Amino acid sequence: MSTPLLVAALVEGERVRLREARESDAATAFDLLHGNHDVLDWLIWDGPNEVDELREWYAMWRNDTPGGTNYHFAIEDRAEGTFLGTLGIRFEGHAGQGDVGYWVRSDAWGRGIATEAVRLANWLGFRHLQSVLHYATVFVGNDASARVLVKNGYVEDEAGASKVAKGGELVERRFFSISRRAWAAREGSWEPRFSVVELE
Ligand SMILES: CC(C)(COP(=O)(O)OP(=O)(O)OC[C@H]1O[C@@H](n2cnc3c(N)ncnc32)[C@H](O)[C@@H]1OP(=O)(O)O)[C@@H](O)C(=O)NCCC(=O)NCCS
Repeated sequence: MSTPLLVAALVEGERVRLREARESDAATAFDLLHGNHDVLDWLIWDGPNEVDELREWYAMWRNDTPGGTNYHFAIEDRAEGTFLGTLGIRFEGHAGQGDVGYWVRSDAWGRGIATEAVRLANWLGFRHLQSVLHYATVFVGNDASARVLVKNGYVEDEAGASKVAKGGELVERRFFSISRRAWAAREGSWEPRFSVVELE
């Protein structure tokens, strides 16, 4: 099973849109991320050392690897076009099972941005990318992220708890997931406000 290949994706909700990440997002994202422990302390990734790292990464918003395809989207304010953060769905090594990860700029927290972005990502994955499961791992203590997932119907599986190295220490993380069946039962015929999804 291989992941369908997107050539273009833009999905809009009420407040945010997901669109392909671009090289031109790198400078803004770097300013928001570099040295920002409020965000980076909760990610496995330690953040970029220089802006070119982000340029290269965002230029490959669709990254085809021998083990599967990963997608990287920008989260943007729908009305103003402001860059708010990023969201990835990674299928590498686990076709059909999308590993969802995200961050939102700290000055926009608490406005429902991540909750809506995950909803849009679920729609994209389950409706168009043949996902059978979406999952996310959350460091213990990251209650805001756990809440984002629960609000989107994700369920915690304690058997999926694990530890991962972060900053030279082992950090405990929680495992949340939602199946396509649970997503369909929850969302019914819900559609985003606007979408452009082109598959190869
Ligand atoms: C986690 C994160 C993405 C949330 O983004 P956001 O746009 O502020 O999220 P939302 O506003 O959609 O929802 C946050 C929810 O968490 C709740 N929340 C916030 N801080 C909380 C806390 N300390 N304890 C419990 N709940 C909390 C909010 O009240 C809200 O729930 P509600 O709508 O029921 O009130 C953002 O804080 C972030 O980028 N953090 C750093 C990176 C990160 O953690 N990424 C995820 C890795 S798994």
